Amino acid sequence: MSQAELLMDKVQNGFVVERNDDMNDKYKKALKQTLTIVGDTELLSVPPLLTVYDEAPNLNYKITALAVIQDEIGHAHIAYRLLEELGEDVNELLYERPANRWKNPYAFDFKLNNWIELGVFNGLFDRAGYTLLGDAFENTSYGPWKRALVKVDKEELFHLRNGEIIMKAGMKKPETAKQVQKAVDWMFLMGLEFFGVADNLKSRSAQLDYRLKGSTNDELRQKWLSTAVPFCESIGVKVPAHYDEEKEKYVLDVPFPCKFDVENRKWLHDEPDSWDGVIERFKKRGPENKEFVYRIQKGAKEMEEMRKEEVS
Ligand SMILES: [Fe+2]
Ligand SMILES: [Fe+2]
Repeated sequence: MSQAELLMDKVQNGFVVERNDDMNDKYKKALKQTLTIVGDTELLSVPPLLTVYDEAPNLNYKITALAVIQDEIGHAHIAYRLLEELGEDVNELLYERPANRWKNPYAFDFKLNNWIELGVFNGLFDRAGYTLLGDAFENTSYGPWKRALVKVDKEELFHLRNGEIIMKAGMKKPETAKQVQKAVDWMFLMGLEFFGVADNLKSRSAQLDYRLKGSTNDELRQKWLSTAVPFCESIGVKVPAHYDEEKEKYVLDVPFPCKFDVENRKWLHDEPDSWDGVIERFKKRGPENKEFVYRIQKGAKEMEEMRKEEVS
């Protein structure tokens, strides 16, 4: 058995990786990639939330939104701290990386349109975070991450419940009910995209081989659907998916993947797409990508300028 296979075998049988010495290069690479996606996703969830948090209908909602934002920064901090321990230059990662190289989901490259969208963001996207991180919490072979996820898991549940409360309250008045439906119309498929390429298109995944996570993309997508669809239906929001008794799983009523009209935030249901097409769209990035990353880097850049002036 090669060294790589030996470690795979060990982690599949419950071995917990604690130190850098326990890893091989492939494990370390997959772990770093995973933690970069996680850290970027946590941190870049903040700028969209900030675009509307001022529109909170009352102080309670506002404090809750701030608590969510504070949690996300804490979650990002956990991921970047672990990356630092793995030898990454986090300063460079955070403050010098070009915007298009950040690994946050495409859905976070958009401003939110109104307060209700913040609720749907929490209700659908934090649900995706909860699904993905819950799986990592249960299954990951990396001990330091598993321990940190105890707290993250609880907080993500709070975020998605907060989203459900806002969505439910929104459905009580005709005007805001329309906003909920409109938000779900563009955010639902975006939520599904969080889980990545369909299983049948994926080559062997180091993340699964080394047990950084336990379930495949499609399994996680099903898990998300199994709570998102019943919740939306229970409050009277229409979603383009239903449970198929015969297939014993959730199926979509629209093509997925599908082309997306960025300007009008509309899925073009008569234009199915391939995952290659989706990845191309991801790479182009969404409208606020540069601006949102700039906000993260602005302070550090200004400090750098001040230092230069002092020297000259
Ligand atoms: Fe988070
Ligand atoms: Fe969250």
